Amino acid sequence: VPKGLDGVIVATTQISKIDGTAGRLIYRGYDITQLAGVVPFESVVHLLWTGRIPSEKELIDFKSEIADRRSISPSLISFLKTVPRDANPLSVLRTAVSILGLTSSSSKGEDAAASSSPIDTGTSLVAQFPTIVASYDRIRRGEDPLEPRKDLGQAENYLYMLTGRVPETERARAVDAYFVLLADHGLNASTFSARVAISTLTDVYSAIVAAIGTLKGPLHGGAPSLVWDMLSEIGEARNVRPWINKRLESGERIMGFGHRIYRTEDPRSKILKSLAKQIADPKVYELAVETEGEARRILQEQHPKRALDTNVEFYSSLVLNASGIPKDAFTATFACSRVAGWMAHIIEQLSDNRIIRPQSEYVGPENLSIEPNA
Ligand code: ACO
Repeated sequence: VPKGLDGVIVATTQISKIDGTAGRLIYRGYDITQLAGVVPFESVVHLLWTGRIPSEKELIDFKSEIADRRSISPSLISFLKTVPRDANPLSVLRTAVSILGLTSSSSKGEDAAASSSPIDTGTSLVAQFPTIVASYDRIRRGEDPLEPRKDLGQAENYLYMLTGRVPETERARAVDAYFVLLADHGLNASTFSARVAISTLTDVYSAIVAAIGTLKGPLHGGAPSLVWDMLSEIGEARNVRPWINKRLESGERIMGFGHRIYRTEDPRSKILKSLAKQIADPKVYELAVETEGEARRILQEQHPKRALDTNVEFYSSLVLNASGIPKDAFTATFACSRVAGWMAHIIEQLSDNRIIRPQSEYVGPENLSIEPNA
């Protein structure tokens, strides 16, 4: 049994393709380099769910459908006010989605087959994820949550709700491109969780809660705040090499490096690097570039047969920080994008479902017997 199901194909999909050797990521036939910074996130959500880039009219309608659904209920805001201020924003989001599931007419004890269309539920979730994350962030800082703005795009409105200011175009564009780049990525661990959960015909909210819980781990979506901690600890260029050596000597990993599938640079990392160059503090950017180069060299010496390059999380941390997103909300921001991919896979799984139920190979003892008490 390959450890971690390495190389095992467990589903067919038309949603995204990763070419780990060439370093390419394709959404429904389009290379991400043609999408990021070119079409808005809402277009990519439409593409992932339907297989088509929306027409101009369809995009206007879809954007306004999302914008109309951004507000969250007063009872959810009241709940957010009861959450401890030091809670992990992704855990808050996970619990809030669970609460949405309790109150949504589409999931009151109903299964996926019986509930309203997953696209309808997905539209509400894509709309409300940023509102939940931004509202909690303001509440924990002692500020009132802001009503979402219908006239702003998804990324722009998210930054507005976090900071109270309409962001500069450059920053809004960078976060929009980030949302596009992170929206889907094959059968990554959280998407696999979503597909396994929905294959039982549970409700969509339960499947999304499973996905959020899986995203949280540092080997998956939890890495970018740790990348930021690493750069903060390194502090300046002369500390890079000793810091990396010390970390590796103690058996720890360098966050933001390595990937199960890519054997070359993650194509998302390349784009995020150029976005970081545009909007991040130049000193932090230079330190990140220095760290990238040094870590690559050292990791290559240690693992000559395995390319360990930067993954999506390394430069994400710079883009998100430069956009005013708090470090501990980086993974929750990732979820605001990836919910689009989770929903695409939920829709695909439901369209031709069979319960996902693999087997394990039992390697423990057999034929033991209970000895009668002497
Ligand atoms: N730093 C140091 N060594 C590493 C790193 C790293 N970041 N990544 C892999 N290695 C080493 C391992 O120690 C292992 O060495 P060994 O063969 O001597 O034991 C070898 O490379 C292979 O590693 P695996 O654990 O088999 O790689 P796997 O494909 O299972 O894991 C993963 C991929 C989890 C991304 C891994 O590279 C890692 O832990 N990276 C750091 C965390 C990180 O950046 N996570 C974000 C991933 S991107 C995303 O999910 C959105």
